Amino acid sequence: MKRLLGVMVTAALAALLSAGTARAEDKLEIFSWWAGDEGPALQALIDRYSALHPDIKVINSTVTGGSGVNARAVLKTRMLGGDPPDSFQVHAGQELIGTWVVAKRMEDLTPLFKSEGWLKQFPPGLVSLLSARGGIWSVPVNIHRSNVMWYVPANLKRWGVEPPRTWDEFLATCQVLKGKGVKAPLALGENWTVNHLWESVALGVLGPEGWNGLWTGKVRMDHAKVVKVWETFGKVLDCTNADASGLSWQQATDRMLKGDAAFNVMGDWAAGYMSTTLKLTPGEGFGWAPAPGTGGTFMMLSDSFGLPKGVKHREAALLWLKLLGSREGQDIFNPLKGSIAARLDSDLGKYNAYLQSAAKDWKGNTVVGSLVHGAVAPESFGSQFGTVMEIYLNGRSAQAAASAAAAIAEQVGLGR
Ligand code: GAL
Repeated sequence: MKRLLGVMVTAALAALLSAGTARAEDKLEIFSWWAGDEGPALQALIDRYSALHPDIKVINSTVTGGSGVNARAVLKTRMLGGDPPDSFQVHAGQELIGTWVVAKRMEDLTPLFKSEGWLKQFPPGLVSLLSARGGIWSVPVNIHRSNVMWYVPANLKRWGVEPPRTWDEFLATCQVLKGKGVKAPLALGENWTVNHLWESVALGVLGPEGWNGLWTGKVRMDHAKVVKVWETFGKVLDCTNADASGLSWQQATDRMLKGDAAFNVMGDWAAGYMSTTLKLTPGEGFGWAPAPGTGGTFMMLSDSFGLPKGVKHREAALLWLKLLGSREGQDIFNPLKGSIAARLDSDLGKYNAYLQSAAKDWKGNTVVGSLVHGAVAPESFGSQFGTVMEIYLNGRSAQAAASAAAAIAEQVGLGR
């Protein structure tokens, strides 16, 4: 009987303790747009986190929609409603700084960067992109490249064409392909991928100095060179599929893979999709080249995670950020994601042929930042660029689009 009582007391104690383990501290909610096909790299990182911290239950909240178009809206509601996720995905740079840093809703992560030795492990240019107002605001997990043109080597061979090196060459190749029955040589998807194509055309026409000039204010948005960007862009659009607005970026990539189109301009998450999800071999199943006119320039963007003020599980979030920024974490995530590590000491032996070539270009090329993926322009401009694009698509007037962009630039004080 005494024994039985003892067992009962132990059981009651155990129940109490296990109720205790369901404390707020033992969960972690992370928030991102890496759902479905975009999920495997994040899942691998979560699996590692769970192995390291088995007592913490990870809640993986995702909102589908490439480049975060839908996730950002949901995040806004949550942040303003006082219900921030413990850590959320955000592009390094103005996308975070111009919004939640300015609103004083983020924790300064400088102490973490110092204690983890990250000031030496991340490239100084990247740390400065993450810094403003005396703080460092998020932990970068990768480097993606925006200006890549994808194709299937065997298909190009069959059609007798090469990846074009300039946008003029592209337009000539487009006519050749149309003559061979390829109705829409360049596969395009929903709205944000149209903006994504624009930034590669702009970089190709303006060159890196001209591109940077747009953001420092040295090149006005209605300069003749920029009007030329819109004119070229219009001709490029005439080489794309009419049903673009109904396709996700993966579906546009699929069009190219199936041979309905010859090319697709997309960031190198497409390499992640093709190698991790579709199991294609880089160089055989798919080939790549810098987007026309952008050889020698690497248009970068970086996915990062930040720590909002007042989260429910701060300690668990700090452990998450530590894993994200570690060499181990980056080398688990990036080979699957189609990106290279943000750190300088990653083990390239773990990366496929495409990623090794991206790593080489990241080191040797001129690096510029992406507009569409939050790196280079203030949020106030980036979020209004969609309106400029609508004006262009509705009227197809290069001058009207350039003037609209210049008006927004003026209004938000771009380059000042
Ligand atoms: C980018 C993001 C990438 C990828 C892509 C497509 O903005 O940086 O990691 O998720 O969108 O959704």
